[in-house]
Amino acid sequence: MGSNIPTSTLRSTDRTIPLLGYGTAEYPFGASIETMKESILHAIELGYRHFDSASLYQSEVPLGEAISDALRLGLIKSRDELFITSKLWCSDGHKDLVLPALQKTLENLQLEYLDLYLIHWPVSSKPGEYVLPVKEKDLLPMDFRSVWEAMEECHKLGLAKSIGVSNFSCKKLENLLATAKIPPAVNQVEISPLWQQKKIREFCEEKGIHVTAYSPLGAKGMLWGTNNVMECQVLKEIAAARGKSMAQICLRWVHEQGVSVLVKSFNKERIKQNLDIFDWKLSQEDLKRISQIPQQRAYVAAEFVSEKGPYKSVVEFWDGEI
Ligand SMILES: NC(=O)c1ccc[n+]([C@@H]2O[C@H](COP(=O)([O-])OP(=O)(O)OC[C@H]3O[C@@H](n4cnc5c(N)ncnc54)[C@H](OP(=O)(O)O)[C@@H]3O)[C@@H](O)[C@H]2O)c1
Repeated sequence: MGSNIPTSTLRSTDRTIPLLGYGTAEYPFGASIETMKESILHAIELGYRHFDSASLYQSEVPLGEAISDALRLGLIKSRDELFITSKLWCSDGHKDLVLPALQKTLENLQLEYLDLYLIHWPVSSKPGEYVLPVKEKDLLPMDFRSVWEAMEECHKLGLAKSIGVSNFSCKKLENLLATAKIPPAVNQVEISPLWQQKKIREFCEEKGIHVTAYSPLGAKGMLWGTNNVMECQVLKEIAAARGKSMAQICLRWVHEQGVSVLVKSFNKERIKQNLDIFDWKLSQEDLKRISQIPQQRAYVAAEFVSEKGPYKSVVEFWDGEI
């Protein structure tokens, strides 16, 4: 089956990104590797082409195996049909560790290049550990300039076709843009009907940075998740009136904001259901009601905040965007 998922062009590199991507984060990390591999293969078969991974998630190896299987089974003709993202973990957020971290990621994935490599969080930590939460005593400030230079080197070597960031506020993006030779192609951030992120979306639009939404359903059950999105009364009423699922309403709303959206499911029925968001629209009335939903981040990132760390409060971490 071919893919009907629309794409957008990343302005800084002219490469295309599928607007619906498949997420591979499940907490605790590494608990369901075999299920993950099977689910990814099923997703490729159904038409997903964009896969989001990270060294933290322990999903690179199963993703790589699923890609090999998909090629062997003829579900795709070439790796180039896929858009593969991975992320630099905080403990590798040091200029000399960036390239080795990417090389390890590529080895895990059995790939020669990534489509997109992201700085996962705007914070570094003591080298060696890949854990969330990062131990409080291990938190370190990130030297954005030198880490970004190392990311640029990865791009120049052809190992990452595009480079970007994740969880960056407008202020942090502004600082990065002030010295970057290659601007970030993407900022991957939490977006759902309950955390609409108008400010960062407008800022990124103005700067030519593509936005990718994570946790569009609120990541229920995850360390970084909340039940509030899937239990929101307004969304329930819209879903019932339209004969769609809550997840479809959330994904369609995010899609209509002009960003790409990542959703994770290891359930075959839900993987299929989440694809079914492109041949219908929300009404003006639906959009108006969603715009009035009280706003609340699912994940405030309190784990990255410490009295002795680089960020002393969540307000400082997000530069007030909270
Ligand atoms: N850059 C970052 O810092 C960052 C942070 C968080 C996430 N991400 C990325 O974004 C991806 C997506 O976000 P997320 O995983 O946090 O949260 P999410 O996609 O909002 O939610 C995932 C949860 O929703 C359930 N689900 C999926 N489809 C459903 C449906 N149709 N109906 C009901 N429940 C459904 C899943 O369970 P089942 O598996 O049982 O279906 C899972 O428990 C991640 O996997 C990861 O790749 C990035």
